[in-house]
Amino acid sequence: MADLSGIDPDRVRALEEAENARFVAERPRSMTLQAQAHRSMPRGVPMAWMDDLYDHPPVWVDRGTGPTFTDVDGWTYLDMYVADMSAFCGHAPEPVVEAVARRIGLGNQFLLPTEDAIVVAEHLAARYGLPKWQFTLSATQANTEVIRLARELTGRSIVLLFDAKYHGEGDATLVIEQDGAVVPESRGLSPGIADQARIVPFNDTAALEAALAPGDVALVLAEPAMTNAGFLLPERGFHDVLRRASRDAGTLLAIDETHTLVCAYGGLGRDWGLEPDFLTLGKAVAAGVPLAMYGMRDEIASLIAPPEEARTVSGAFVDEVATGGTLFGNALSMAAGRAALLDVLTEAAFERTAALGAQLAAGLRTAIASAGLRWSVAQYGGHASYFFAATPPADGAGSRAADDPGLRALVRVFMANRGVWESGWWLGPTVSVAHEPAHVDRYLEVFREFVAEVT
Ligand SMILES: Cc1ncc(COP(=O)(O)O)c(C=O)c1O
Repeated sequence: MADLSGIDPDRVRALEEAENARFVAERPRSMTLQAQAHRSMPRGVPMAWMDDLYDHPPVWVDRGTGPTFTDVDGWTYLDMYVADMSAFCGHAPEPVVEAVARRIGLGNQFLLPTEDAIVVAEHLAARYGLPKWQFTLSATQANTEVIRLARELTGRSIVLLFDAKYHGEGDATLVIEQDGAVVPESRGLSPGIADQARIVPFNDTAALEAALAPGDVALVLAEPAMTNAGFLLPERGFHDVLRRASRDAGTLLAIDETHTLVCAYGGLGRDWGLEPDFLTLGKAVAAGVPLAMYGMRDEIASLIAPPEEARTVSGAFVDEVATGGTLFGNALSMAAGRAALLDVLTEAAFERTAALGAQLAAGLRTAIASAGLRWSVAQYGGHASYFFAATPPADGAGSRAADDPGLRALVRVFMANRGVWESGWWLGPTVSVAHEPAHVDRYLEVFREFVAEVT
């Protein structure tokens, strides 16, 4: 019998078993490396997500060029996952390769600034509309500092988040709502973090206003469109309410464009005229070379200025908000960021990826309709997501209700076995700066083959 997605779950299970077996059998070198890696690394990978992301084992990678990468068994994949958005510049983009090679030869780490930092910060200010910037090595770290600054500025501790969010692995955001209560999202976290967070559904302006009403929220941390449970677009007027209600409540607003920076040249914030107090960027911003940053208004930046009368405890300044790390702002990341922002992530590149994204979404919709399936597609710029439900959900609960983990696992292993690297988790396919129309056509061809196989 077919379930909500319209697909027979027994067929999905049988196909997944067969496709997983094929995947393993055809990749002996990857399987050998993983077995060896188990001896020195938990789960046989350097970072557990690499094993978490897929139902099948990860492949071990040899190299990547443009829109493709090749594993150690010699299989080449058309990359539609683009490393969870971080490879949106394509693999080994020439300007970044040259800048990184040049910089490493000149020395990469001094714990002192290089001129590239000024170029990058000035470019970010012009492009994203906030005047001051600080740099970290991951978006997690950027969001952690943003939360700290907001708490200091407002004298409040609560952070308001949207259900089904992901903003990195900082403790403050690793919470979920369960049976009406906020609880830690995973093990190893202090139960106390749950008292510092409030969670509301995306697009629910009444719940948002009610959560802000007590006047105890330091910061709303939000993606402009949510990307970690499918692609949830804001309803008309949602961002207006978010900005007005947060201002009225004396709450700061951080917009996290770590993922959505791939959707438009100045991010969705610029396209939609958002006015955040903080803006977080990361992942693709330096073509996947570790670099992230947050922009802020001038008044906020003054908190990072040297304290007038510094108080020290055991040699550490205690009047400042704690920010920074030894490798943050390093010369290599800055050189990569400069090349990526100025020479790869150009306005022309975003015009092309938006056209490819439209091609992708149209092709998905046609394939779905031709197969008589009641699935739907959300897309903006080069990013799209398909849902196993007739209309794209508006919030996390809708997305979870429409989800079919078995079917999702099947589509990605089916595609991998045919040379297409589909996204992990719920992200949905993304075209990179290096993709061409023929790559989108190839993806759609395999998608159609998949749909024909399961219907
Ligand atoms: C919206 C958003 N913010 C922040 C992060 C954290 O990024 P990183 O893993 O680079 O710290 C992620 C990661 O997926 C994300 O999706």
